Amino acid sequence: MALGIKIKVRSFLTRLLLRGVEVVHTIGFRKVKTEDYPWQSPSAEDRRSPCPMLNALANHGYLPRDGKDISVPSLVTALLDAIHLDPDVTIYAGIKALETSTTGNALTFHLDDLAQHGIIEHDGSLSRHDVHAPRPSNDDNADNNADNNADNNADDNNATDNTVDDNNADDNNLNADDNNLNADDNNNADHNNTDDLNNFNTNDFAPSVWATVLPRLGANSDVTNVNGDDDGLISIETAARARLAHIAAARAAAPEFSMSADDERESVRETSLYLLVFGEGTLGRAWRARREWVRVLFEQERLPFEEGFQRATKMITGADIQEMERKVNAVSEEQVNETAGGGGQ
Ligand code: HEM
Repeated sequence: MALGIKIKVRSFLTRLLLRGVEVVHTIGFRKVKTEDYPWQSPSAEDRRSPCPMLNALANHGYLPRDGKDISVPSLVTALLDAIHLDPDVTIYAGIKALETSTTGNALTFHLDDLAQHGIIEHDGSLSRHDVHAPRPSNDDNADNNADNNADNNADDNNATDNTVDDNNADDNNLNADDNNLNADDNNNADHNNTDDLNNFNTNDFAPSVWATVLPRLGANSDVTNVNGDDDGLISIETAARARLAHIAAARAAAPEFSMSADDERESVRETSLYLLVFGEGTLGRAWRARREWVRVLFEQERLPFEEGFQRATKMITGADIQEMERKVNAVSEEQVNETAGGGGQ
C-alpha cells in the first residue's frame, strides 16, 4: 500500500478511536469527577512546559504528574476530561508537539520539550520571558520582592482557606476584587516560579512578565478595562489589546525580538483559548473570560474549580476557536489601523 494511503487509513482509524472516546463521554459511561484530580505542586523532578494549561493538567493528574512521555491519545483524554476540548483540536496541536520530542519515541514528548523555541514556543508570551528579552536585574528583583511583600501584608486579610499543602500558600487571596499581583508568591522553588536570575528561561512562569500584562487585563485599581468598568471579566477587546500592547512592549525592549506569521497565529490562538475555556460563551452568553479564573491558571497552574469553574457542558470545537480567533484578529486590526492613523492608545 502506498505510504500516503497507509497514513490516511491510520489517521482515519485513530480518529474513529478518538470519536469512540468522545461517544463514551457523551453517553455518560465514563463520568469524570474533579475530586479524582486533586491539584498537587510538582516536584523538582517533574517536567513542566511553557503552557499554563498543560502544566495545570499535569498538576491535577489529568496528564502524568511527572510531565513525561505524553502521547497524543493521553493528551486527547486529558483535555476532553478536564475542559471538554474537541479531540480534533488536540490532535492538531499534539502532532505539532511531537515535533519537539526528545523522549526517543517519536510518538511521545516531555512537557519541557515544548520549550524549544520556534516550534510552538514563541516570543511575545504573556507570562514567560522571551528568548532575547533583557535579563531582569537584581534591582528589578529587589523591587518585585519589596512590592510583593507590601502586597502580601496588605492582603493578609483576604487570604482564603488554603486547602492544598504546597508552596503557593500565600497566593490564595486571588479574587475578582484583588487588584494586586501576588504571583511572585506562587513560588514553587523547584519550578522557578520566581524570576530566578540564575535560571533565566522561556519555560517557567515569569511573574515580572505577567505583572506587566495583568494591568492590561484590567487587574489594577487605577486601570479599568477598555469598557471603562471592572466587572471581573476580560472582554475579547481587552484581551486582544492586551496581547498587542504586550507584544509592542516586548518588541521595543529587545532588538532581536521576532515573531513569524505562525508565531502570531499561535499567540492569537492562545488568547482565544483562554477566552473560550474561561469564558461564558459555552453557556450561550457573550464571550468574556473570568479574570480570576485566568489568573489562577497562569499564576498557580491550576484549574479554578474551587473558584467555580466547571468543564464546559458543550464541547469546545475547532470552529469555536476559529470564530474566536477571527474576533481577536478583528480587534487587533482595528487597533493597528487606529495606531497607524494616530489614534492608538
Ligand atoms: C495539545 C494542546 C496544547 C499544546 C501542545 C500547547 C502548547 C503550548 C505551548 C508550547 C505554549 C508556549 C507558547 C509561548 O511561547 O508562549 C503554549 C502557551 C499557551 N497555552 Fe497552550 N497548548 C495546548 C493547549 C492549550 C489549551 C487547551 C489552552 C487553554 C487555555 C492553552 C493555553 C495557553 C496559553 C494561554 C498560552 C500562553 C502562555 C503565555 O503567553 O505566557 N493551551 N501552549
